[in-house]
Amino acid sequence: MKILVVGGGGREHAIIKKLKENKTIEKIYALPGNGGIAADAECMAIGATDIDGIVKFAVENSIDYAVVAPDDPLVLGCVDALEEKGILCFGPRANAAIIEGSKAFSKNLMKKYGIPTAAYEVFDDADRALEYIKTAPIPTVIKADGLALGKGVIIAMTREEAEDAVISIMKDKKFGKSGNSIVIEEFLEGPEVSVLSFTDGKTVVPMISSMDHKRAGDNDTGLNTGGMGTVAPNPYYTEAVARECMDKIFIPTINAMNAEGRTFKGCLYFGLMITKNGPKVIEYNCRFGDPETQVVLPLLRTDLFTVMQAVTDGTLSDIKVEFSDKHAACVIMASEGYPVSYEKGYEITIPDDIADCVFVAGAALKDGRLVTSGGRVLGVTAIADTLKEAIDGSYDMVERIHFDNAFYRHDIGARALKASE
Ligand code: AMP
Ligand code: GLY
Repeated sequence: MKILVVGGGGREHAIIKKLKENKTIEKIYALPGNGGIAADAECMAIGATDIDGIVKFAVENSIDYAVVAPDDPLVLGCVDALEEKGILCFGPRANAAIIEGSKAFSKNLMKKYGIPTAAYEVFDDADRALEYIKTAPIPTVIKADGLALGKGVIIAMTREEAEDAVISIMKDKKFGKSGNSIVIEEFLEGPEVSVLSFTDGKTVVPMISSMDHKRAGDNDTGLNTGGMGTVAPNPYYTEAVARECMDKIFIPTINAMNAEGRTFKGCLYFGLMITKNGPKVIEYNCRFGDPETQVVLPLLRTDLFTVMQAVTDGTLSDIKVEFSDKHAACVIMASEGYPVSYEKGYEITIPDDIADCVFVAGAALKDGRLVTSGGRVLGVTAIADTLKEAIDGSYDMVERIHFDNAFYRHDIGARALKASE
């Protein structure tokens, strides 16, 4: 079996490391991968959004199976294009990836099918949005419609902040075309839970729950980022909450997508908030989360490739997907200045004995040495019997990894630990 993984971050590194456990896989290519992934897969300099380049590579190299991990190629139709050439894929087609690609689509879907989410209005005209804000309940949440690397969401604590947000997204086009329309929604409160799930469009199998830490600074201060660390399982995701999510959110979402003629196959990510009125959907992602994947997949006991193939074949109900009952914690080491601007090119040293626990996100190889090349540089995952040991284990390893200008949060898992005590 020859496999191709589209993408080049920590999530893709976690997917590739897990796929390598399957002995029927002879070769894994990463497009484009990164300097750290190069230790586990052959990296090709083909960008994740170069759909023509990806398809050409897959055909010329007789690829048997492709895993399309990031949102942009999924939304652009990478799976559709590969399938047209007869290549089996893991990931939704474009008409289903829209569940992440357009917030207006996903909000309208939830309204139509009664799936619990924050109340909202969609606007494609800035002046009408500004008019609405004059009387909207504050705080309010403003979201660019399209993809914006997790940064297109503004929580406005005052009316002025809300107006500024509308102007920067719709008039100044801070997120480009993604801001042609916006969603203005009710501010919800409660702990957040990420639930990734496998689905073949008929069966939905939730993976172990996790908790992301989206803000750049300790104690949830600073800017929103792609995610600065994760723990799994998430203590707020109790069995009762899980049952409610299955009945009111997961199954209804799969059914809604089928009813719309947009069957979703792949990993569907539910970003949930556990409010006092029950769990509500904050967002859907059409893919594995990053860095959720770096704690979820290491806890997966069942062979990942077997599960992925069952998703593709539509036979997910035939297999048992099992997770370990241990805990995982992942701390992201980033470049100082992320998510705004940061320097690159600093040498990274990772002791050999912990290399297996490191998922590389933003690093390149320069003269055979690993150097920083991105905002999020790497993630360090520890697995242990308790959450406390997992967190301590991850920080112990972080202290042994070095690069100039490194920064990381010091409180990954602290909230979860408090909740589980
Ligand atoms: P999203 O990209 O939609 O996941 O939003 C990013 C983050 O903004 C979420 O993880 C939440 O912390 C926060 N957020 C989004 N929508 C809301 C909402 N309606 N109420 C409160 N916080 C929200
Ligand atoms: N960590 C959040 C995401 O992947 O969107």
